[in-house]
Amino acid sequence: MEKLTNPILKGKQKEKLILGHDAEEDTIVNLSLRPLDIKDFVGQKDVIENLLISIQAAKKRKEPLEHVLFSGPPGLGKTTLAHIIANQMETKITATSGPAIERAGDLIGVLTNLGEGDILFIDEIHRLSKVVEEFLYPAMESFQIDFVIDKGPYAKTIKFNLKHFTLIGATTRSGLLAAPMRSRFGIFYHLDFYEPEDLVKILKRSSHILKIKLDKESLFEIAKRSRGTPRVANRLLRRVRDWAEVKAQGEISKEVVNKALNAQGIDKNGLDNLDRKVLHAVIDVFKGGPVGIDALSATLNEERDTIADVVEPYLLKIGFLKRTPRGRQATNSAYESLSLPGRKEVQKEMFK
Ligand SMILES: Nc1ncnc2c1ncn2[C@@H]1O[C@H](COP(=O)(O)OP(=O)(O)O)[C@@H](O)[C@H]1O
Ligand SMILES: [Mg+2]
Repeated sequence: MEKLTNPILKGKQKEKLILGHDAEEDTIVNLSLRPLDIKDFVGQKDVIENLLISIQAAKKRKEPLEHVLFSGPPGLGKTTLAHIIANQMETKITATSGPAIERAGDLIGVLTNLGEGDILFIDEIHRLSKVVEEFLYPAMESFQIDFVIDKGPYAKTIKFNLKHFTLIGATTRSGLLAAPMRSRFGIFYHLDFYEPEDLVKILKRSSHILKIKLDKESLFEIAKRSRGTPRVANRLLRRVRDWAEVKAQGEISKEVVNKALNAQGIDKNGLDNLDRKVLHAVIDVFKGGPVGIDALSATLNEERDTIADVVEPYLLKIGFLKRTPRGRQATNSAYESLSLPGRKEVQKEMFK
């Protein structure tokens, strides 16, 4: 298992990269805010309903759950759901991530240690190397792995039987997953952005756990600006608390929320500097588009993955960008939103 400690860390580093600012703090606080019980998991009603049926059916048959794949932008609850499933199935869960598993050999120890019904969670499963992916296929399908001992003419392939485990994969974009991999999952759910009402419920629970006092209006204001994402909501809640402690004697009101979030560069649509930079590039540099992600990433000197996984899905969701066969195009709402204060600031930043 020695090898696994490192891999998990590497996974976290990726998370940090994607989310920018305070991912270190996020990791710690997320653990305390992460619901373990399915009753505390807010929203995604259809997913939860179907998942519960699969879980109950598997338990009734005393069989392990089929392999599960979750897709969706970061921070929507994929990792949380994997742990909730383990909790519901009353099984052990081992967690690792795609980029962490460098060689197929890294997986042998992990797989052979899994007991009947145990869960192996692979985050960012679309980032597994091809070799590792192919090593996993027989493990997923017939609970067998082949490994080669010796080299050259004496090389022998040995088959090893595994216990019937459940693989739970998470990916930000299911489109990046190889088709043979995707087809080996019996259960597949896409998580969508949350409505403000759901985020209010999540924030209520978090503020209770973190002992932060705030009224409904303030909760709703934070929820509205959280990009439909629970992880962002929890982060903004903490930023508002910090601001209130320093600037408003700890008292939180809707006005305080507004000021605190404005100070963080979060506008009324929940967009941050990077989102606005991307919109500006589409509109100012590429004349509204269509433009591909690679061109945007090169122009802005930002990670392609961050734009594709974090920025773009939300801009599409709120209708600021639309998909065309030749790339992304800015919509009227995007143009309108840029006439708001903040435009100059973004431009200054972009062209400095
Ligand atoms: N449906 C939900 N209900 C309550 N909290 C949630 C929900 N989804 C996510 N969260 C919160 O957001 C944080 C990030 O979720 P996580 O499962 O790590 O997202 P992902 O794995 O999709 O990036 C969790 O720690 C948890 O506090
Ligand atoms: Mg995750």
